Amino acid sequence: VRVIAIDGPAGSGKSTVGAAVADQTGLEVLDTGAMYRAVTLAALRSGTDLLDGTALGKLAASLRLSVGPRVLLDGEDVTHQIRSPEVGAAVSVVAAHAPVREVLVEQQRAWVEEHGGGVVEGRDIGTVVFPDAELKVYLTASPQARTHRRAGELGATGAEQLGAVAEGIAERDRLDSGRAVSPLQVAEDAHVIDSTALDLDEVVKEVLALL
Ligand code: C5P
Repeated sequence: VRVIAIDGPAGSGKSTVGAAVADQTGLEVLDTGAMYRAVTLAALRSGTDLLDGTALGKLAASLRLSVGPRVLLDGEDVTHQIRSPEVGAAVSVVAAHAPVREVLVEQQRAWVEEHGGGVVEGRDIGTVVFPDAELKVYLTASPQARTHRRAGELGATGAEQLGAVAEGIAERDRLDSGRAVSPLQVAEDAHVIDSTALDLDEVVKEVLALL
């Protein structure tokens, strides 16, 4: 099956680029970050200890997740809740646990089987989940550019709010890159695209040219 892997840090434009590439290729898109966020939301709601990997793995396995344009958690639409600051602050801690990753990676592979391929975006898609992907893109941009993009998505304005967005991104970068299991890193055979000075249309063109 056909898989296009798009990895990169927070705010690098993965969702926008992924959606456009899916549109152009006729593939569906899977946002794996939304899966980690949904498990994190469930953990916060149930008061599960965020340091207990075994408990979090069990929780993840017990959930019914559906990730499309809307994100459903046991049938409830949590599309907006998973973007809350509380979930953003906790998700990298939850995602660092191997038992959680095992459950979600299996679901990601099953999703691709069912959908006959896909554009899959995340942190470890080209390195761990689909090492044989047809195309691997590692999208990056300067911390400033990523902060501005993420702030735009969140509607954050003013020095204080921008500072908070920048800090949140820096903290997630640190945790996602530094973890022992499936850290954020550039796959050996990935094409690195730095979008700092590009608009997202130009990035999409570059990805389609690579394809
Ligand atoms: O993509 P997004 O920024 O929504 O991802 C939220 C978090 O989920 C990331 O910061 C990371 O901790 C985790 N994640 C992951 N592996 C993936 C996708 C996301 O660990 N494949």
